[in-house]
Amino acid sequence: MFGLNRARQTAAVVAATAAAAAGALLGAPTATAAPQPIVGGTTTTTTAYPFMMQITDASQSQFCGGTLVSARKVVTAAHCMVGETTGSVRVVGGRTYLNGTDGTVSRVSKIWIHPSYTDASDGDDVAVLTLSTSMPYTPASYVSSSQTGVYAAGTTARILGWGTTSSGGSTSNQLRTATVPVVSDAGCRSSYGSDYVASDMVCAGYSSGGVDTCQGDSGGPLLIGGVLAGITSWGEGCAEAGYPGVYTRLTTFSGQVTTQVNS
Ligand code: ARG
Repeated sequence: MFGLNRARQTAAVVAATAAAAAGALLGAPTATAAPQPIVGGTTTTTTAYPFMMQITDASQSQFCGGTLVSARKVVTAAHCMVGETTGSVRVVGGRTYLNGTDGTVSRVSKIWIHPSYTDASDGDDVAVLTLSTSMPYTPASYVSSSQTGVYAAGTTARILGWGTTSSGGSTSNQLRTATVPVVSDAGCRSSYGSDYVASDMVCAGYSSGGVDTCQGDSGGPLLIGGVLAGITSWGEGCAEAGYPGVYTRLTTFSGQVTTQVNS
């Protein structure tokens, strides 16, 4: 979960000049960072977002987020599941605080990782977990493959997680949320070059930075209109100007997710 940013260092040097030149493309026309006390944002609860799951190790130590899409199915990032087994992972629902003991803990009976997944910056960063125990929480709806219009540049998207509140900082004990505008493909390409695979990814963030997902938020939801439309995947640092967060473009994988949800 924490290694992806290393891969971005060399690209950053090359892309920085291009990004500065193309800065106007990076955000929505009205995208000025709204400082909010994730990076930026505010605290919230799993009561407000009941589908928000902690993905933890066997000791219930959180390392990624996930989204409940049916009583026994959780959508997360493939990169969160690298090296994991059904025995090494737990899913915790209904727990707002990392140090809480409340909510529902489930074991995982199956881990489906997109068969083409190799690295988050190559796309296909999606996984579906099958739970051993049903979660008594309202699941989220997710986009269908035809709903590609949800990613129109400038659309407001919501991010959620327990990740670090600054790059290299510490995680948040309480669940946090923020909103960020969807960035156009051209804007994201100008930031990330060929690492941005438009068919599989979508970017969101302010051109001036300041609000973003960060380490530990991976696997969690990008919601558009309250519907799961993306999965926190990667980025250069966190909340840096000119480097929006990169999310899995869920419309591309919706059919495969549905196959897993119904399996
Ligand atoms: N890979 C990170 C994780 O494992 C998520 C990084 C998101 N970065 C960003 N700048 N939006 O949690």
